[in-house]
Amino acid sequence: MKNPIIAALDVPSAEQALKLAEQIAPAVGAFKIGKELFVAAGPDIVQRVRATGANVFLDLKFHDIPNTVARAVAAAARLDVQMLTIHTSGGGEMMQAAEKSAQDTAKSLGRPAPLVLGVTVLTSSNQETLAEIGCEPNVGRQVERLAVLAVKSGLRGLVCSPLEIADLREILPAEIQLVTPGIRTGAEKADDQKRTLTPREAMAAGASWLVIGRPIYAAENPRAAAENILATLY
Ligand code: C5P
Repeated sequence: MKNPIIAALDVPSAEQALKLAEQIAPAVGAFKIGKELFVAAGPDIVQRVRATGANVFLDLKFHDIPNTVARAVAAAARLDVQMLTIHTSGGGEMMQAAEKSAQDTAKSLGRPAPLVLGVTVLTSSNQETLAEIGCEPNVGRQVERLAVLAVKSGLRGLVCSPLEIADLREILPAEIQLVTPGIRTGAEKADDQKRTLTPREAMAAGASWLVIGRPIYAAENPRAAAENILATLY
């Protein structure tokens, strides 16, 4: 069985990221490289983490015109990442272009296509945020609408909050991969995460992958923290 833990390398430098990655690699299934680390350390950090043999989730949440997103996805596929994110609110044409670019680039390199994950409504958004930008103000309905559009547009996975997993599982094809942050074990504080589930609860609800940041990297012993989380899953 695959290890569903994706450890977020939410640290500000390549040195810190590589040290953390080396420490916890045997206990996790992949590493997430987000905007802070990528902007600070560049594509080189992706290549260095990949060079250790680890899977990489590049979380840059692309949102632009279809051609630009397609080209950014192609560049990410050339970096050999296994997962990457785009905003579903960029629309169907943008998502189709992203998926096609992932497939075409990977095919030309003779590799499996990276999983293009759609981000629906950020968990920092609420009814007021959606209303102020002229969207359907019901967060749940907006999440469902974007999720359905993402699947229609050919995406094979979505990022969602733990509390959206069960509802999305009811309306989406079973093969759609759901990646969920907002995971807390109960042993640590919730930080700024407001709606959390434990790793086991999230998997039981139908998550395919768990994105875990502070509960691992901010723990006194990150390796032990990751191993303890993994042990709760089986
Ligand atoms: O430290 P923590 O476990 O809260 O980290 C969660 C990771 O998932 C962070 O990298 C954060 O940016 C990301 N994330 C999130 N909530 C979302 C989307 C992404 O916490 N809705």
